[in-house]
Order: sequence, then C-alpha cells, then structure tokens
Amino acid sequence: MIDNDPAAATATQMPAPASADGDVNALWRRVVGRRSFLRSVGLAGAVALPGSALFASEAVARSGAITKGDAAILRFLAAAELIESDLWSQYNELGGVAGGNAAYIAALSNLDSDMPQYIADNTDDEISHAAFLNAYLRSRGAEPVNLDEFRTLPSSKATGARQIRRLTNLQSLDVDTSWYTRYRSGRNPDFGATFPQAVRIRHQPAIPLDDADTPPTQNQPVPPVGAQQTRMQAIANAAGFHFGYIEQGGSSLYSTMALKASSLEVLRIVVSIGGVETNHFSLWHDKAGNAVSKPLAGVVDPKTGVTFPDLNAHGGEATQTNLILPEPTQFLRKDLPACSVVRPTLDQFAGAVATIKSFTADRLFQGQSPKFFKTVMQLAREADAAQRHVTGH
Ligand SMILES: [Fe+2]
Ligand SMILES: [Fe+2]
Repeated sequence: MIDNDPAAATATQMPAPASADGDVNALWRRVVGRRSFLRSVGLAGAVALPGSALFASEAVARSGAITKGDAAILRFLAAAELIESDLWSQYNELGGVAGGNAAYIAALSNLDSDMPQYIADNTDDEISHAAFLNAYLRSRGAEPVNLDEFRTLPSSKATGARQIRRLTNLQSLDVDTSWYTRYRSGRNPDFGATFPQAVRIRHQPAIPLDDADTPPTQNQPVPPVGAQQTRMQAIANAAGFHFGYIEQGGSSLYSTMALKASSLEVLRIVVSIGGVETNHFSLWHDKAGNAVSKPLAGVVDPKTGVTFPDLNAHGGEATQTNLILPEPTQFLRKDLPACSVVRPTLDQFAGAVATIKSFTADRLFQGQSPKFFKTVMQLAREADAAQRHVTGH
C-alpha cells in the first residue's frame, strides 16, 4: 500500500510493514542469473559500508532522518523501479537467458546473440534498485513503496510466461522512438526541440501473446520467412526499441532527480543508480539498431503493419545505426559550446510526472485502475516538488 499523505514521507512515521521488502525480496529470489551477489556483497558495497551489515546495523539505521524532499525522491524512484522490475521480469521470463520461449529467444538473438543474457542482467539490476531504495527508505525511518495491490494485469499466454498478475502491459505498446533521433541531434529537448520517430511503433506487442500467434518452437531465420516467424521477429524488434526507450527515460529521470537531492548520501544513491540506467540505455541503443540495419532490416509485422526499415539505406546522421554515442548538444545556455550529455534533464520533460505521462503514452499501464494512476501521480508530484536544501551533511 502507498500512503499518499505527504507527511508520511517525513522521518517520523511508523516503520512500514515488512511485507514491502518481503515482496521485492521474493521477486529477487526468482531471478536466475549470474548475479546472486546481492545478498553477499552488493548491497553493502553499493553504499561503501564495511561488511554486509547495512540493514542489521542499528547505528546506521538510526543515524539520521532524511528530509521530506529526499524521501519523496527516493519513494518515486522506488515506484519507478518496481514498474521497471515488473516489465523487465516479463521480458526475462520469456526471453532471458533462462527464459521459456525458445522462438522469442531466437528472435531476440537475431539482434545480438547476447540479448538473452543482457535481458536477464538488466532485470537483476532493476530488482536490485527497487529492493535497495525501499530498504534505504526503511533504514532512514521513511515509508517504502509497495505497488502489489496494483498487480492486476494479465500475463501473456505464451509458453514461458508465468501466470501471475502484473503491474505493466507489454502486449500493445506505442513505443516512442524519438530518443533514437534525439541522441543523434545537436539540439536539446530542454530548449524545446522535438524529434521524429525513428520507427513508428503503434499498438505493437513486445512480448509474444500466445502460442497460436507465435509457436514457441519455430525457428527464426534471418530474414524471417513465414508470417508467424515474421510476427515474432517484429515483436522482438519492438522489444529492442522498448528497452532503449525505458532506459533512456531512466537516464533522464535520475539526472533530474539528482538536482533535487539534499543529503550527499541520497545524491550518491541517485547518481550511482542513474549511471547504471545510462549504461543500460547505451547497450540497448546499440542492439535496437540491429533491427533496422542489414541483414535484419525490412521486417513488417503481418498483424500490426509495424515496419522496421533499413535506417542506413538513405544515409544521414539522424538515423545511421552505429552512431550510438550521444552527439554533443546544446546544454544550459546556447552561448556555451555543445556538450555530450544526457538529455532532457528539465523537470517538465524528464521529471517524475513527465515519466509517468510518458509511460502512460507508451500504453505500459493499459488496463490499470484509476487508483493506480492517482497513486503514482501523487508520488510523482511529491518527487517533482522536492527542492535541494544543503544542510552540511
Ligand atoms: Fe532501474
Ligand atoms: Fe532501468
């Protein structure tokens, strides 16, 4: 349950029910992969505390409250990470390295043979982000975030998907792909620039829907031949662009939230997790390009008509697929030289409310309840309202 009372974000309220962390930890335990490190060294190491006693340490837990603004920042980020964890877990169940849908894995692997490993690892990271942020909030006497009551959306029926209820919907996405052209541009959205879509992706599934639509054991040649193989490849291609969309959003969101943090420790958390979001984005930016370059380019989804053209066919730096590193752009003031930076980083384009609005336009929350939107928007408004107050610690 989320408490919408802003006062609840102060350091004085009752500790949250243990179930909030318990749920995240249960989710974490289900993750398969190389990084079961978390319980041994990762959490403690991530905040540079000696040993692994972070949450057992009464001294740390009681060493000071965080400000209302810092709590609001971290609570929104915890919500965003729970949302990310939910969507990434769906990708991971079907297409991760231990995923259950062989044809989807094969189609993703046509973008890069390491895609399933990267999906699994990105999933691990999001779950660790959510668990850490909630644990940190608790350690500072602030209320963690639990969105479990909103896990109401149906799973994919395709082989590999667990039949549980979800926070997010990956079955009919409108993926904004303007991040692709934005990061190739010397113009900055913070100055009002807008950017064309690299690929028009409307009402497109990014995970297989059911086995009749895409048989889980079919092969996935490059280029695809039959209608069902082409359908699956289009689904995997859309996923590739969706991965980039999600993680560029995280890059901008964390940069924006960092500017509001008051305590150095909270700032450290925000920039340290934010850097990994950018790391993810860079990876997915590279992989998405493989859907729109030879030999895979040209896939047209037979059901939605979504088309993945060859973005290298006509030349031009606005779409060239190997230009994945950010182009230097306008930054702060137009009289300053261009600078290669994360963009946007203004509240109106990259803040918490902007993030929820973007995810909503993505149709990521299709089917969610009015209470869900009310809850996440309240968290978002509180985070955007946070202001930096330097207190000397
Ligand atoms: Fe994350
Ligand atoms: Fe992320």
